[in-house]
Amino acid sequence: MISIKSEREIKLMREAGKLNYLTHEEVKKYLKAGITTKELDKIAYDFIISHNAKPSFLNYEGYPASICVSINDEVVHGIPGKRIIKNGDIVSIDIGVEIHGYHSDAARTYIIGEVAPEVRDLVNNTEKALMIGLSKVKEGAKIGDIGAAIEEFAHKHGLSVVEELVGHGVGTDIHEDPDVPNYGKAGTGVTLKAGMVIAVEPMLNLGERYVYMHDDDWTISTDDELPSAHFEHTVVVTKDGYKILTGDISDEKE
Ligand code: MF3
Ligand code: CO
Repeated sequence: MISIKSEREIKLMREAGKLNYLTHEEVKKYLKAGITTKELDKIAYDFIISHNAKPSFLNYEGYPASICVSINDEVVHGIPGKRIIKNGDIVSIDIGVEIHGYHSDAARTYIIGEVAPEVRDLVNNTEKALMIGLSKVKEGAKIGDIGAAIEEFAHKHGLSVVEELVGHGVGTDIHEDPDVPNYGKAGTGVTLKAGMVIAVEPMLNLGERYVYMHDDDWTISTDDELPSAHFEHTVVVTKDGYKILTGDISDEKE
């Protein structure tokens, strides 16, 4: 079932999105070579709790941390631990925040120090792919329009698209219907309606698209061990486009 959110619900989801944005900004302050992924997790946990909210991922299907930190060839769902961030790493931070019973989901990939030009391009183009996917979002568009645009852009830049994980609806659950694949055919799939809230989250690989799951039953990495990047926003569909719920708040007064 795909839920259509009321004005009131969208307001609450914007609160969850704002706090998600602010948590990303907080983690970013500390994200440097030398810090452990567990320390980043604690910074996010403390920040979210201090705002009377909850980290959506903690205990979700048994997930043991508040955020996901996925480094280099890790695509998503890296569990924070003793690993130390190094110069030359690319680090994806994925955060879920629940407040007033509503969730928000957002991810960014950061470049730490110097990386090879093709790795920099991977990260920058994955962020662009997210925005290109979002540019298709509006009432009346099809879910397939989003994935087709992302896939076309990725392939044009020599990148591959992970197919095992997809974007999703967001609301009173962190993962709701519909699935939002990062591949597909324009004009196919569910028709978007104003008030639907979806997370669009391309995961693009420098090498081949194939991935495997680690023995921890969470971390997903590329088979060829080449790097992968991930960007995600939670957005609400509107009559003529979309509004990012997990975006920059500096342009807003409320
Ligand atoms: N943002 C992640 C996703 O949409 C959610 C991770 S849930 C966790 O796939 F439990 F793995 F953290
Ligand atoms: Co997500």
